[in-house]
Amino acid sequence: MNRILITSAIPYINGIKHLGNLVGSQLPADLYARYNRGRGREVMFICATDEHGTPAELAAAKAGQPVDEFCAEMHGVQAEIARGFRLSFDHFGRSSSARNQALTQHFAGKLAENGLIEEVVEQQVYSHADGRFLPDRYIEGTCPNCGYDKARGDQCENCTKQLDPTDLIDARSAVSGSTDLEVRETKHLYLRQSAMKDKLDAWISAKADWPVLTTSIAKKWLHDGDGLQDRGITRDLDWGVPVKKGDQDWPGMEGKVFYVWFDAPIEYIAATAEWADANGKADADWQRWWRTDMGADDVKYVQFMGKDNVPFHTLSFPATIMGSNEPWKLVDYIKSFNYLNYDGGQFSTSQGRGVFMDQALEILPADYWRWWLLSHAPENSDSEFTWENFQQSVNKDLADVLGNFVSRVTKFCRSKFGEAVPDGAYGDSEVALIDELTPRIRAYEGHMEAMDVRKAANELRAIWVAGNEYLQSAAPWSVFKENPERAAGMIRLSLNLIRLYAVLSAPFIPDAAATLITAMNTDDAWPDDVSAAMDVLKPGHAFTVPDNLFSKIADEEREGWQARFSGVRD
Ligand code: 2FM
Ligand code: ZN
Repeated sequence: MNRILITSAIPYINGIKHLGNLVGSQLPADLYARYNRGRGREVMFICATDEHGTPAELAAAKAGQPVDEFCAEMHGVQAEIARGFRLSFDHFGRSSSARNQALTQHFAGKLAENGLIEEVVEQQVYSHADGRFLPDRYIEGTCPNCGYDKARGDQCENCTKQLDPTDLIDARSAVSGSTDLEVRETKHLYLRQSAMKDKLDAWISAKADWPVLTTSIAKKWLHDGDGLQDRGITRDLDWGVPVKKGDQDWPGMEGKVFYVWFDAPIEYIAATAEWADANGKADADWQRWWRTDMGADDVKYVQFMGKDNVPFHTLSFPATIMGSNEPWKLVDYIKSFNYLNYDGGQFSTSQGRGVFMDQALEILPADYWRWWLLSHAPENSDSEFTWENFQQSVNKDLADVLGNFVSRVTKFCRSKFGEAVPDGAYGDSEVALIDELTPRIRAYEGHMEAMDVRKAANELRAIWVAGNEYLQSAAPWSVFKENPERAAGMIRLSLNLIRLYAVLSAPFIPDAAATLITAMNTDDAWPDDVSAAMDVLKPGHAFTVPDNLFSKIADEEREGWQARFSGVRD
């Protein structure tokens, strides 16, 4: 497949993500996008902000802003941070876009046409003062279990007991504080996932190559308890996609919006349409990624996400796509991640525990974080961030191995031969290194194709180490005294190795890679043939000595950060 569609789970708008969120979706998706572009494939890499739902409304209220303004501002903040981490989205969309509204209503209309939507009458709390139905978490009162006076209608935060709004003593609206509440009948739409259970089951069962983490979660939801449940896809909120059947009104659903989890994955498609709009392209240009009747059969579609998102992507979203009976592209591979923990506990957005994306960039540039996070990605189990481990990896892998290699080779060359590739033949030790690197590079490619992130990082590190060991044992600085021509061959190979490292490492550490490519004054063509790649920079080719690539993290710095991030964010 020469066209790859990549989506990362779209982050909620309310607040800045922590490093655990980053490593579970956007960052590995970026790694894969950059790798595929490096291999010359056509890539469409899509992300967006997930802007609807109660949390967005609550966060806007807390910030004292209208929700649309709040979302527009936060989208800008998240986009800026994404640029800081060098996340190379082709488009970073917004689920509140007109495109998503139209597509979400379109899908709902098709599902209704195909008999997959059920209208259900429910009891819900209505607030006279607010003039609206209140979602469970918008109702506050005293917990019947522990007496805590700020318990929410869905759960008591103090004793963790799950509650119904009617359990609360002295229930009041969290919006206005009013106690003038009433339980009323209201109608909601349900997506009849149960009717699609066998189809979904057959589809997932055929995905033998998917990560066990992905399929095991999907199977659990398909088979545990009563099996796959129908899902409410509407809410009584102001902020969201208004409930419509295509562009027609939906009788009885006035004033209601679609549930955030119904419209969020549709935004993957909508954001690609937003990309077309933003770049003056035609509808056919985005549809060739998404419509199998428009060429999308040739696309490999890969999704990246944390494990908590898997049920929605293996069941609910495919149910929407399949249930439409239209030729939309289904996902080909779902890469899911476990959780990254923080220094003996959990990263937590609600508690402000851990390091958040904006804070990380205040401390160190993106490459440092990208390397640590990706080389410790929580693939087969949860993994843990500790400051000691971070310091050790950065100092060893980036500074001692890669950075040091570059600095020794370029500075030695400058002092003995000048800033141009010297002329000297390759001998046995150079050929031996090329023979070692060839299978390593093929293994690296294999891990990247398979999205085995840690294995790919390990192989890349081994490739850097091989160069370092070669240089150490070849010792051109000693050889130079007796045999400058032999030393010149060693340095010519080493300069070509720097170029090779830049190309291979770019998906992990794009800034350092770009610095090296510029310093070596060269291109970034992929090393399909390693011997040929060791001969790209010819004798006489001018280069410059790059600035120090990576600084080591000192103990005092590490201790300072450890202290700064030991509490909670204010
Ligand atoms: O977990 C989250 O951050 C969700 N906002 C992910 C949504 S992914 C998709 F469905 F769009
Ligand atoms: Zn309680």
